Amino acid sequence: MGSLRRLLSLNPSRVRLREVNAAFARSIPNDACVLDAGAGEAPYRPLFAHTKYETADFEQVDKRYTPSTYVCDLADIPVDDARFDYIIFNQVMEHLPEPRTALAELFRVLKPGGKLLYTAPLCYQEHERPYDFYRYTRYAVKHLFTQAGFEFETHEWLEGYFATVGYHLSCMAQMLPRRPSEMRQIGIWKWVLFPVMVFLRFMFKLLGFFFSWLDLKCDYDARGYPKNYYAIVIKPADGQVSQSDPSSMMEHVVLKPRKLEK
Ligand SMILES: C[S@@+](CC[C@H](N)C(=O)[O-])C[C@H]1O[C@@H](n2cnc3c(N)ncnc32)[C@H](O)[C@@H]1O
Repeated sequence: MGSLRRLLSLNPSRVRLREVNAAFARSIPNDACVLDAGAGEAPYRPLFAHTKYETADFEQVDKRYTPSTYVCDLADIPVDDARFDYIIFNQVMEHLPEPRTALAELFRVLKPGGKLLYTAPLCYQEHERPYDFYRYTRYAVKHLFTQAGFEFETHEWLEGYFATVGYHLSCMAQMLPRRPSEMRQIGIWKWVLFPVMVFLRFMFKLLGFFFSWLDLKCDYDARGYPKNYYAIVIKPADGQVSQSDPSSMMEHVVLKPRKLEK
């Protein structure tokens, strides 16, 4: 039963997140210094076993944490300038009330020429409350990182649109009424409508599973929107914040076709 539940809660985002982190880790030479910024339980730590891997997290959410190397706000990381060769920054930016301040700090602690892997949702329900502030469009990602001084190497959809569909269907399956008493103000109609809800919940669960599975088989991104974007950004080799004109920058937000490894 447990494994059936796991199969039915198939999550293509987790698969894609692991893929992009694994590819990023493989590109990193042995003994490079890596920061997992907002590491939480540090799910990608094993991928970086060949590096000097450190974590930073403020550990304020009521959940399980792996003990952090630095217990701190990402707006103020207690290390020298240019300590890290690489940074991973997964699923954190939506939780930062002042993302500009944290990006300036990540820029400071990254070596010139160093790279940062970013992933964060465009659409996802509220989570890690009350530390959940924003959702980022591709334009916001480009704008904020460029203003902080980074240059873009990659900026792409993380999943395809089928994963977005699968996610919304699974949410509906979880969140539709579970008891007739939850359907207020419709009197005795609730006894007719509640069985409809039960049927729809079952169908949405099944369809959610189907679209999630389909996303892993088929990179569909001709229409729709992704659940997450990911980007690899670089701190320029001269270590300077480039003085780009924000209006011209907005014209260059072109997402390349996805090249995820299978
Ligand atoms: C959704 S979790 C992501 C954890 C991990 N990166 C992952 O991919 O599984 C967001 C993490 O960011 C951390 N976080 C949120 N706001 C922070 C802040 N201002 N400074 C440091 N860490 C923060 C939270 O404690 C949490 O562990």
